[in-house]
Amino acid sequence: VTDRDDKLPLLDMDPAAFRAAAHAVVEVMADYLETIESRAVFPPIEPGSLRPLFPAAAPESPEPLEAILNDYHRLVEPNATQWQHPGFLAYFATTASGPGILGEMLTAAIGQNPMLWRTSPIGTELEEVVVDWLRQALGLPDGFDGLLTDTASTSTLIGLAAAREAAGTGAATRGLAGRGDLGAGLRVYASAEVHSSVEKACMTLGLGQSSLVRIPTNDRFEMWPEALAGAIATDRAAGFRPIAVVATIGTTSSTSVDPVAAIAEIASRERLWLHVDAAYAGVVAMLPARRAPFDGWERADSIVVNPHKWLFTPLDASLLLTRRMSELRAAFSLVPEYLRTLDRESPVRDYNEFTPQLGRRFRALKLWVQLRWFGLEGLRRRIERHIELAAGLAATIGADPDWELLAPVPFSTVCFRWRPVALAGRAGDPEIAERLDVANAAIMDAVNRTGEVFLSHTRLAGAFTIRVAVGNLRTEARHVERAWELLRAAAAEQVVPVQR
Ligand SMILES: Cc1ncc(COP(=O)(O)O)c(C=O)c1O
Repeated sequence: VTDRDDKLPLLDMDPAAFRAAAHAVVEVMADYLETIESRAVFPPIEPGSLRPLFPAAAPESPEPLEAILNDYHRLVEPNATQWQHPGFLAYFATTASGPGILGEMLTAAIGQNPMLWRTSPIGTELEEVVVDWLRQALGLPDGFDGLLTDTASTSTLIGLAAAREAAGTGAATRGLAGRGDLGAGLRVYASAEVHSSVEKACMTLGLGQSSLVRIPTNDRFEMWPEALAGAIATDRAAGFRPIAVVATIGTTSSTSVDPVAAIAEIASRERLWLHVDAAYAGVVAMLPARRAPFDGWERADSIVVNPHKWLFTPLDASLLLTRRMSELRAAFSLVPEYLRTLDRESPVRDYNEFTPQLGRRFRALKLWVQLRWFGLEGLRRRIERHIELAAGLAATIGADPDWELLAPVPFSTVCFRWRPVALAGRAGDPEIAERLDVANAAIMDAVNRTGEVFLSHTRLAGAFTIRVAVGNLRTEARHVERAWELLRAAAAEQVVPVQR
């Protein structure tokens, strides 16, 4: 089909051309994955150096796919942070596994939008299936239902929006502005180590950053339940209205585990919504022998676990489980006439009623492909292997007098720093502490500049802390060992005066 001058095509790529192009793209993808280790995990480029490589405006005329793929190869691949690289040990890994990528390809081709059952029967019902498969795999009771979102940030936003309704605020209908009947204000409690997504949810939901009360932690970075109970009592006495507690299993900095059972007890006594953020570490509950840190999470009102972190699922996929779907609906359901379908007469699930967005991706498909291709047993084995790799590194670091572990290692992330033995007794001296911070930042930077591995850092108890987070599907023992070699080599270049 062409327009009136019979020259310009008006429809999509024709099927034969698509077939040929798709094969070519698969070659590009397979080449990339096959040669990933030849690239620097973080490319040696400076901010702002990429934009000038691209034309300032979109092309007026069509360009051939070969030209586009050549530019992809030349401009895109080498300038990516290589999250697919086995030396990616920074932040928390997100691997796009082979079956996950295939699932994404199928998702793109079938073009579903499971906002209503009618706009995607299979998207809706396969989401129900996959959510329930994951719930069972995580060892949670069948009272939990849920849905898939893009990120943990959205899942937590939804959980706290539901908490706001469950507290009887009527915020979804009446708003919060000028509501003197809510007392001095609504309050949400979480540990001092909580992820920033909780604070952002408070900002977005109109509770404000000041509504988030940060409860102190012990020296293992775990929330102190007595302090939580005390803060709630103090706030109630001052006229505040507590609505929710967020407990984290696997905090972002140190992967510490809040005492969920004790927190659940307090939340239940105080009638507060309990949201559990297990975005990174939640998948460990798939390993029955390693469920101890999850004790009590079955009492949560909502739980977030991210398959796009440690379950090797391509971005994006976050699992939100809840025992209280009706509260999610109270927070987000709005059905204008154009979304009303005859199916509403029968009990269909229209997922948009539980989320702030209307349009939704068909995320269940890639999870279905992936869960079947690996099998739960295959996924467990890989997660277990990562835990073992981290434990091995932690043991090596713990045994080296010039290095120190700065946090326990409950999962697959090791937090540590270089601290030469001669300074062991003096690391509290502010001048020495400052020098150690500078030295450890320099060590991490030197290691990252090699391009062989990529590490990130945090601050624990005020100290610059290097993190090695194992979670990439392609990481093997040799990559973790190489990271350790590079760290020691970089430390050998450091000079910190040991004399007073
Ligand atoms: C504990 C925890 N919660 C939430 C998040 C936010 O995840 P997302 O990027 O999926 O919003 C992170 C990210 O690392 C995290 O570590």
